Amino acid sequence: MASAEPLLLIEDLHVSVGDREILRGVDLAIGEGETHVLLGPNGTGKSTLLNTIIGLPNYRVTQGRIVFKGQDLSGLEIDERARLGIGIAFQRPPAVRGVRLRQMLDVAAGGKLPEETVVKLDEDLSLEYMLDREVNMGFSGGEAKRSEMAQLLVQEPDLALFDEPESGVDLDNIAVVGAAMNALLKGDGRVSERTRSGLIITHTGHILQYVNADIAHVLYEGHLACRGNPLDLIDEISRHGYDACVECAICQRL
Ligand SMILES: Nc1ncnc2c1ncn2[C@@H]1O[C@H](COP(=O)(O)OP(=O)(O)OP(=O)(O)O)[C@@H](O)[C@H]1O
Ligand SMILES: [Mg+2]
Repeated sequence: MASAEPLLLIEDLHVSVGDREILRGVDLAIGEGETHVLLGPNGTGKSTLLNTIIGLPNYRVTQGRIVFKGQDLSGLEIDERARLGIGIAFQRPPAVRGVRLRQMLDVAAGGKLPEETVVKLDEDLSLEYMLDREVNMGFSGGEAKRSEMAQLLVQEPDLALFDEPESGVDLDNIAVVGAAMNALLKGDGRVSERTRSGLIITHTGHILQYVNADIAHVLYEGHLACRGNPLDLIDEISRHGYDACVECAICQRL
């Protein structure tokens, strides 16, 4: 049974970058075993929300709070949040000069990975020649996404944040990335049997062919304006746009 206390609880979150307020009162609760989707127009603050949850510098919480496993995350560094069980696959993963992907996987796993695990990762995500290259140095868009996914798989976070996992990924590799995400989230089981939770940013929803998501939220004008079934909301947005979506009949307005 999922516990009554949500794994992640965000209350009235206001976040500024520089002197601009990007998030203006975000409320979100993700229960254990649930996978949520975050939709919203370009530049509304979707990545800002994920980057704030993981604790990147520059994202200043000016009001509200983020609670994970009952613990207020304010003041915790990125590595402390990772150790608590939060992982992220970035929209545009940064290059890490001097660190090979193989070494980065050891860091994400918290110790030397057994060779058979590396071989299995290679089989699942076609990491091949990337393992001995510096992380994200010259990786193509699809290679960078597969490298991010490999790091999350070995970290095994309780809450996995995916920022546009399918952007720049070819159709064959969307299936590869999607299968890895679903394996991590154990998405084929019932919510009550799952232990990991996810939050996925997507524009197209293509990744949702491979990952079972429970609910979608629309970030609009700085807050979560409505929520509903992920595929229904994406269909509504693709037909009528975001302005109409947040007023539409299928949305549960907030
Ligand atoms: N580190 C930063 N420095 C300056 N501005 C930033 C930074 N991070 C985000 N912003 C600004 O905050 C706003 C929201 O950006 P964010 O990346 O969160 O949008 P998004 O919803 O993820 O958009 P997209 O769909 O295009 O990825 C944008 O105007 C962006 O330029
Ligand atoms: Mg973004």
